Amino acid sequence: MGELDGEAAFVTGGASGIGRAGAHALAGVGAQVMIADLNAVGAAEVAEEIRSAGGTAQSVGCDVTDEAAIQAGLEATVEAFGGLTLAFNNAGNALGQARIHETDAADWRASIEVNLTSIFLCMKHELAWMMDHGGGCIVNTSSGAARVPAPGRAPYSAAKRGVVALTAQAARDYGSLGIRVNTVLPGVIDTPALRSNHDDEALDRLRRFLPSGRLGDSNEIADAVVWLCSPGSRYVNGQALVVDGGGILA
Ligand code: NAI
Repeated sequence: MGELDGEAAFVTGGASGIGRAGAHALAGVGAQVMIADLNAVGAAEVAEEIRSAGGTAQSVGCDVTDEAAIQAGLEATVEAFGGLTLAFNNAGNALGQARIHETDAADWRASIEVNLTSIFLCMKHELAWMMDHGGGCIVNTSSGAARVPAPGRAPYSAAKRGVVALTAQAARDYGSLGIRVNTVLPGVIDTPALRSNHDDEALDRLRRFLPSGRLGDSNEIADAVVWLCSPGSRYVNGQALVVDGGGILA
């Protein structure tokens, strides 16, 4: 028996990195998982991995900046699993980053769309469903950049701090309806996205900078997400949990 047996989870950005690890971890403790990603082929592959490991998973192509696509993904989840009790709103990217005076307005808007508006849109429809069906649990992915901005990441830092605020707001407004909403702030995590932005030398510099002496593993974020979805965190609501091996706030 798994800790999350019978739960139905919607996971965005589940085709890669932290989302993929989160989907595996939730399924590993019994949740039925819908993997939603812009990369529909990758999402289907992760669903197949989970099924091969004995879990329950399906996938749907979904752009989290598109409200209709989110609604369709959530409807597919309810249809497949008979409900929606968990959501891991994780898709995002750090593309188009620069210092403020060098940032194109279009890049600003694109980053806010994918990193912040997406969380609003997902929560809008998840909360509406959960409040009418006995509650649920939502975890949003922010970033350590919400607390300590990385150099030249103006839109990303702003968006990710917005995710922290939106999470606290949702907890305040929906806590009395049996819904918990928390956010994880990953540190420097070894994912395909990180590797695409950093060469080996840059990764070594990061390792030397971090008190842990190493990059984080996606599974270490996934473990925090499972905890935030589990009864063990039942009195934790509206919180921003930094998972960074001590690197950001030290
Ligand atoms: P990743 O690139 O490995 O995975 C991101 C997934 O999101 C991909 O499968 C991609 O196809 C999907 N995606 C991107 N845009 C999408 C959209 N518009 N609609 C649906 N799916 C979309 O990235 P990673 O590193 O796993 O990042 C996941 C989240 O964690 C992001 O929100 C990122 O900002 C955050 N994060 C990552 C950190 C790191 O060090 N890797 C640190 C702090 C936060």
